[in-house]
Amino acid sequence: MDYFVVKGGNELSGQIEVSGMKNAAVAVIFACFLIEDKCVLENIPDISDVRTSFSILRAMGATVRYLTETTVEIDCTNAEGGCSPFDLVRNMRASYYLVGAELGRFGKAKTGCPGGCDFGIRPIDQHIKGFEALGANVTSEGGYIEGKAQSGRLKGSSIYFDRVSVGATMNIIIASVLAEGNTVIENAAREPHIVDLANFLNTCGAKITGAGTDVIKIKGVSSLHGCTYALIPDMIEAGTYMIAAAATESRLKITNVIPKHLESISAKLEEMGVEVEEHDDFVIVSRKGKLKKANILTQPYPGFPTDMNPQMCTLLCLAEGVSNMTENVWDNRFRYVDELTKMGASIKVVGKTAVIEGGSGFVAAPVRAVDLRAGAAMIIAGLCASGKTTIEDIHHIKRGYYDIVGKLRSVGADIREISVADK
Ligand code: EPU
Repeated sequence: MDYFVVKGGNELSGQIEVSGMKNAAVAVIFACFLIEDKCVLENIPDISDVRTSFSILRAMGATVRYLTETTVEIDCTNAEGGCSPFDLVRNMRASYYLVGAELGRFGKAKTGCPGGCDFGIRPIDQHIKGFEALGANVTSEGGYIEGKAQSGRLKGSSIYFDRVSVGATMNIIIASVLAEGNTVIENAAREPHIVDLANFLNTCGAKITGAGTDVIKIKGVSSLHGCTYALIPDMIEAGTYMIAAAATESRLKITNVIPKHLESISAKLEEMGVEVEEHDDFVIVSRKGKLKKANILTQPYPGFPTDMNPQMCTLLCLAEGVSNMTENVWDNRFRYVDELTKMGASIKVVGKTAVIEGGSGFVAAPVRAVDLRAGAAMIIAGLCASGKTTIEDIHHIKRGYYDIVGKLRSVGADIREISVADK
């Protein structure tokens, strides 16, 4: 198994460019399945979840070709439903968008149950509730999800989600753009990637309003056409490098960002004594001196993002005093705590809250990336630790961070990937 080696202690300086957003990319890529035409997507991050999405679409009859390193043309004209490759689908969470896309285009869907990071039980009852409201019968048995529109085509309807779900909101948008009549989604998630998906689909001829608020309205259209569309930058990748700068007492310019999307992260960093300078499309993060403790609650957007929980918890380990990190989105997000403890962190998890006794710093240790963002946290801890940290299970990190080794090395970090084939 390949692994990363991080030698801590270097100050970072220079600039890092953020790539396109993973969670927007995977939704937009599967939404292309709705369109019998060519779509050109720009600012696509070259990460394994994106490559897997392309492999799934290709296996279903789509053509996908890279025009540049970050621009991809997808043509789903000849794509067929019901034939997504089971092994690939269950490797990633976002493959659940295929259910919405197949139901929207063909009125029926069959695909494997989605995989993704292990945060405990990850139900899709709100997705199913939405599909059923649009007139589909949906069953989930034997590792497969199957759905069929009772009248051959989905029918617009009103859906009130029982809890805010990013995936369910995106999936019902995807399913309903080609439905007959109007759909209203209430208690919708408001993440920037939901706005991005809606903007992409509207550029293709959909009629979606209200994305970014908790009420989204969709007027069904009979077909969509291709377009050229650039994805938004990844706020979680940006936040990860902002924390890397703060943790290593460095100054970094982080480019290709939308500062508005980073507000909850920037505000917490500033509360902790880190300087965040916002410009049109870049931020400069610098830290000199001690970090102050803080209490954080993860929440759906615009709250503090759950996908920054492990990285921020790592930073809180360096702050003086006792901090709390309360996780309100996932039941089991603290699996990384055991790994940070191996590096000298003092953290106790009490129910939904990690109580962090900060100030003691990190020591190098062999650790695992237990999931994607946990892996990013291990890198940050390794950058601060005295000695050589090895991080295994880096395939999780590669699902969501394009060239994290190259980007960090370019600002002075001592991090290398060791490929077992090299040994
Ligand atoms: N939930 C339900 N029923 C549902 C759907 C969700 O109870 O039908 C619950 C979940 O169990 C969770 C909460 O609602 O407790 C929020 O889940 P959500 O549906 O919003 O999460 P998701 O769509 O499956 C996406 C991201 C995650 C990110 C969450 C929250 C993708 C592919 N994944 O997951 O990203 O943590 O939203 O922001 O978009 C990551 O990028 O590292 C990652 C895990």
